[in-house]
Amino acid sequence: MREWFEDEAFWRELYPYMFDERRFVQADEQVRRIMKLTGIRRGAVLDLCCGPARHAVALARRGFQVTAVDRTRFLLNKARRRAQSARVQIEFVRADMRDFVRPGAYRLALNLWTSFGYFDNKDDDLRALGNIFKSLKPGGVCVLDVFGKERLAKIMNPGTVTRHDDGSLLVQLHEIFDDWTRIRNEWILIKGNRARRFPFHHTLYSGQELIDRLRQTGFASVKLYGDFDGQPYGPDAPRLVAVARKQ
Ligand SMILES: C[S@@+](CC[C@H](N)C(=O)[O-])C[C@H]1O[C@@H](n2cnc3c(N)ncnc32)[C@H](O)[C@@H]1O
Repeated sequence: MREWFEDEAFWRELYPYMFDERRFVQADEQVRRIMKLTGIRRGAVLDLCCGPARHAVALARRGFQVTAVDRTRFLLNKARRRAQSARVQIEFVRADMRDFVRPGAYRLALNLWTSFGYFDNKDDDLRALGNIFKSLKPGGVCVLDVFGKERLAKIMNPGTVTRHDDGSLLVQLHEIFDDWTRIRNEWILIKGNRARRFPFHHTLYSGQELIDRLRQTGFASVKLYGDFDGQPYGPDAPRLVAVARKQ
């Protein structure tokens, strides 16, 4: 059976609400902070689950050799167009994160904006981390950025409604399940008289759980931050950012 993230329509229909221009501008600043946080300023970088290449383009502009991987055709097409209009060279690869591996190729591997934990089988998360680990050079760094479980436990609310500039309404419903290990979301997009439902779910990670997974994968050191600016992680931090180093 297909999993929710394999549905191209999910990414196509929700694209304008997920990836507005403001998010592209933010990505450039995030890349600057990631460079400072990791100390890596050049070389080969993997943007795994690159989406429309928000970070990949910013990295390429700063002189990195970028491989950008994603499994969604629609988003890769957007990404290619972005790279073309920015006049940067990026290697785009259509692949699933459970399969993509290029041993010893990268100094830096990024998995950003909650692109981790989508699989029904939680062991697949470990497989994806294993691929990242193998793809890094010795001394290479992985940056993983998700919404932390500690934060969610503090601010969890069952739903929100947002009105967008195009007049559409986006209803976002949330429910925790599977012993507080996963979140089930339902986004309902209402345009005029038409409503479409987009259910999806993913695994939630606490700071310690993410450290454990990364260590189990083989990373020698793992540090957590609450955002790309290096603030401490905790229930008030906007993000859970793990910086894991390969020996
Ligand atoms: C929330 S978006 C984030 C995109 C990008 N990292 C960013 O910050 O804009 C999640 C991305 O993960 C991709 N994705 C989901 N499951 C994947 C998988 N199994 N293998 C590769 N890419 C996947 C989706 O196509 C989408 O581009």
